[in-house]
Parts: sequence; structure tokens; C-alpha cells
Amino acid sequence: MAREGKVYVFDHPLIQHKVSLMRKTSTTVKEFRELATEVAMLMGFEATRDLALEDVEIETPMCTTQVKMLKGEDIAIVPILRAGLGFVDGMLALVPNAKVGHVGLYRDPETHKPVEYYCKLPVDIEKRECFVVDPMLATGGSAIAAIDFIKKRGATNIKFMCLIAAPEGIEALHTAHPDVDIYIAAKDECLNENAYILPGLGDAGDRLYGTK
Ligand code: PRP
Ligand code: URA
Repeated sequence: MAREGKVYVFDHPLIQHKVSLMRKTSTTVKEFRELATEVAMLMGFEATRDLALEDVEIETPMCTTQVKMLKGEDIAIVPILRAGLGFVDGMLALVPNAKVGHVGLYRDPETHKPVEYYCKLPVDIEKRECFVVDPMLATGGSAIAAIDFIKKRGATNIKFMCLIAAPEGIEALHTAHPDVDIYIAAKDECLNENAYILPGLGDAGDRLYGTK
């Protein structure tokens, strides 16, 4: 994994291979969804590296002992609807006790600005380490708005995870929320005139859910 300030770009071959499959037009909805879950698990493994542990006393078949266990109740996964849902199963496979908040945003097709339609977060979001997830970081507008909501509700410990990011989106998100670590599977070239990522993978929500 290469470090660029607070931006982490994953260079693991398994992640790169799976993201490349997701880019292909011929990849089916079923395959795309499965790959999203697999990549979320692989990325989540690294992004959760500094999760807090606590000492717990357990019984093994041999004796009583102190072991380290996750403070699972301190984590929130926050997908940005709808495409962010594609990352939830993979993250929950790693941290099954995490709570899940949802932020509903869509990009206005004309202005490319995010429009909010839903926000439901765990009541104690301010105590939790929040993993905001969305496959695409294009202009950065959706991620910035989602993190604005979460911060307004008191969250201070936030990480953002996405599959593919445009340089414009990374810059915008990092400028708006310099405290937020950004985890990316692939950094692409640029945005096109419709603010879609090139080469990208198209519309992540449509590819996950077979809509269009
Ligand atoms: C996509 C994607 C991000 C957003 C990225 O969602 O999942 O949320 O666009 O673009 P931005 O960085 O320019 O804001 P979309 O608005 O298409 O909604 P959907 O998830 O419901 O398909
Ligand atoms: N949203 C997507 O789903 N894909 C892009 O390339 C840009 C925004």
C-alpha cells in the first residue's frame, strides 16, 4: 500500500485484479456485486488496521487467559446510498457487531451536485469510528456532503473508502475534510464532461443493481 499524505492507494494484486474485472463491460450484475463484496473485505482488512482492542478474559479448554478482542460496538459503517450498499456486506463480514448508518444522496444529472434524500445514523455516532463507503469518488461532492452530515451529528473519527477515485475528487475531499483518511483501490485519470470517472467503471449504482 502506497501512502500519499492521508490518502492510501491500495496496490495489492488481488484488489487490482478484482477492480479490473469490475471495470469490464462484460462483467454481469451478479459478478459485479460479488466482486464489490470481496474488494470491500480486502480493503477493509487494511483500513481497520488501527481499530481499538480491549482485554477480555476467556476460558480456553486449558485455562483462563486474557486475550485482545475488538471493541466491535465502537464502529459504524456508513454507506452512501445507493451504490455504497455494495460495500456493506464485505465490511460486516469483518466487523459483524458494527452498526450501519445510511446517508441517501444522488447527483443531480445537470449540476452534478449531491441532493440529500435520507439520513439515519446510529444515535451514538459521535462515539464511533465511522467508515463512510461509496465505490466512486468523482467530483467529491457526495462524499463531502455525507461527511458534513456525519460531522454535524458529532462524529470526529471518520475514514472514507472507495473503489475508484478521480484526482479531482481526492483533492476536493481532502481539502474539505483534511482530517479524514481516504482509502482508494484505484486512482484514475480524470473526469469526463458529465463528471464521470475515466476510465472508471460506469455508473456503480446501475452496475450493482442492474438499473439504467
Ligand atoms: C454515485 C456514486 C457516488 C457519487 C460520486 O452515486 O456512488 O455517490 O455518484 O460522484 P461525486 O463524487 O461527483 O459526488 P449516484 O449519485 O450515481 O447515486 P446512486 O448511488 O444512487 O446510483
Ligand atoms: N458516479 C458513478 O457511479 N460513476 C462515476 O464515474 C461518477 C459518479
